[in-house]
Amino acid sequence: MLIERNELQFDFGDARFDTRQERDRAFLGWVFDQFLYGEVTGIQCGHWLYRAPTLAAASFLARQAAEELSHVKRIRKIQELLDVKPADAHRAVKFLSTGMMGGTWGEHVCLEMALGEGLVLTIFYALATTIDDEGIRKIVESACLDEERHVTFGEAETAAWLARFPGDRAVFLGQALLQWMAMRRLKNFALKKLPPGHPVLGKFSAFYDHTLEKFDLRARKLGLADRPLREIPLVARAVLLLSLPFRTFLMRRRRPKRLLTETYLSDEWIRSPDKA
Ligand SMILES: [Fe+2]
Ligand SMILES: [Fe+2]
Repeated sequence: MLIERNELQFDFGDARFDTRQERDRAFLGWVFDQFLYGEVTGIQCGHWLYRAPTLAAASFLARQAAEELSHVKRIRKIQELLDVKPADAHRAVKFLSTGMMGGTWGEHVCLEMALGEGLVLTIFYALATTIDDEGIRKIVESACLDEERHVTFGEAETAAWLARFPGDRAVFLGQALLQWMAMRRLKNFALKKLPPGHPVLGKFSAFYDHTLEKFDLRARKLGLADRPLREIPLVARAVLLLSLPFRTFLMRRRRPKRLLTETYLSDEWIRSPDKA
């Protein structure tokens, strides 16, 4: 991964959730409701499997779909251990998970896999180190291993895509900037919802800033920007965002739409089966 666990992991010190307490169980139950929805969006792997550019990518997505669906079961297990019932996700989470689905393979691997799942991984690491229950921690840790592979794949595919279509960089940067600005706006809303005086949640503001900073760093490491997002001047931001719908529309029209059933004979798996 472009950012390893030791750097992505936020230091909560020895602050822990206490799952014997009703208040902490209810809060964690709400957090896992959001992830439950996010894992169900693993069905989108089917959409991308149909549009995968290589047989190797198709094979990865087939495995990823099985992993995301197994995460659904694991989150239900965690909710059982917390003794909470599953509930609907917040509409902002639904919009970020399904409403912003990419239109090209490049958008999918860059925005959803490298950046999006990278963000999820930052939160999974935080949960894996702050929940006092060992059984729950083990389940989250096992999901982290899968998510690390998804992020790594997204990063490698983004590099390959941008080498092929360098002009897409500005569109991806605009989309990443939009997500980053929306998340920054959500911070104060989220802070108001937190119970006061909690050992872990008292550090939430610093954790939120850390998460956004790593999102920003990954965008830079992916080659989308040559400076931190917060240092992009206001005029340049306005140009990026205002031109985004038009540039996205043009980019989606121009990118290849041929399916593997048309291109398989030139695929690495067919041409060099020993290397595949
Ligand atoms: Fe997952
Ligand atoms: Fe994933």
